[in-house]
Amino acid sequence: MIAGDGIGKEVIPQAIKVMQAAGARVDLTLLDWGADRYLADKVTVPADGFGRLARDFDAILVGAFGDPRVPSNIHAREILLGMRCQMDLYANVRPVRLLHASLCPLKNVDPNDVDFVVIRENTEGVYGDLGGVFKKGTEDEVAIQEDVNTRKGVERILRYAFEYCAGTRKLDGSPRRRVLMCDKSNAMTHAGGLWQRMFKAVAAEYPQIETQHMYVDALCMQMVRDPRGFDVIVTNNMFGDIITDLAAGIQGGLGMAASGNLHPGKTSMFEPVHGSAPPIAGKNIANPLGAILTSAMMLGQLEMIGEARKIETAVLEAVGQKKTTVDIGGSLGTSETGEWVANRVLRL
Ligand SMILES: NC(=O)c1ccc[n+]([C@@H]2O[C@H](COP(=O)([O-])OP(=O)(O)OC[C@H]3O[C@@H](n4cnc5c(N)ncnc54)[C@H](O)[C@@H]3O)[C@@H](O)[C@H]2O)c1
Repeated sequence: MIAGDGIGKEVIPQAIKVMQAAGARVDLTLLDWGADRYLADKVTVPADGFGRLARDFDAILVGAFGDPRVPSNIHAREILLGMRCQMDLYANVRPVRLLHASLCPLKNVDPNDVDFVVIRENTEGVYGDLGGVFKKGTEDEVAIQEDVNTRKGVERILRYAFEYCAGTRKLDGSPRRRVLMCDKSNAMTHAGGLWQRMFKAVAAEYPQIETQHMYVDALCMQMVRDPRGFDVIVTNNMFGDIITDLAAGIQGGLGMAASGNLHPGKTSMFEPVHGSAPPIAGKNIANPLGAILTSAMMLGQLEMIGEARKIETAVLEAVGQKKTTVDIGGSLGTSETGEWVANRVLRL
């Protein structure tokens, strides 16, 4: 467990409380990586930190990183991008579920209408910090940000999406049927061309799964116009970053969204989608349900399915009974919400 910064320090203790109430058989180790440690000793990641995570742990639960006292955010970048890239956690999996109609800002959307997943490539794209600045500070300044797309990287994330589609079911028990690939291949022809070719090649191996393609701009519009019908969406790092926040809006805001960073067979990392939210940190008002749902996702991955289901059921009830924080219509604090969910889990 790495609570990290800001509201990470408030929501992760709630997730721990709830996992313990669910009877999850996990040995917890708390690591103090984050801004406080960086400010104290200038260490972002201890020596062999990622090696230790990969060797000694089955899963990592993370809060959030980002602190105004570290304007460069170097610790956040080194810890988060380091985990994703050095541990090669190439698949960012973001379930998008609407737990209650009142949470959705769109009209006439029923919880049954929103149950899809976004699978985001997590190690390539424009986030590799490749590029440079030429003639910095002059009128002729040029900034170049490279978009890296490897055949290996594109193929494996597409394959992950098809495997996910073939191997998982929706909340109502019905099978998943369709993989939608989202890109901008009309404008970004080189990278888009690779994604298009690999999508056709991988899809041919899964004839039972329907395929669909949308440009990212059209997909954003459709997600707001009518989110029904999305099933599995696979996309690159940047588009995935953007559409998962849009999707979080549909499911009740950033406080409700869970995610996993996975590489089958390796130690995976799970984190709520939100950041450290400095303006609300330390006030006991942050919504802990995203972190709690993230812990359920982690337990599911660790094959503690019953424990995970109990947590999801209790969260559903908390939302239905408005035993939540104010951002989604309740009146409880962060720790009181965690307490309510933990007590409910104990009785399930
Ligand atoms: N994975 C991560 O650790 C991660 C992700 C995004 C941003 N960040 C970092 O977090 C810091 C703040 O970034 P930001 O403001 O763009 O994003 P943010 O997610 O922290 O906050 C965006 C908005 O959502 C609200 N919000 C977020 N989580 C909430 C919760 N659990 N309950 C209620 N409201 C919540 C915030 O108050 C804010 O209005 C920055 O340093 C950024 O780099 C970290």
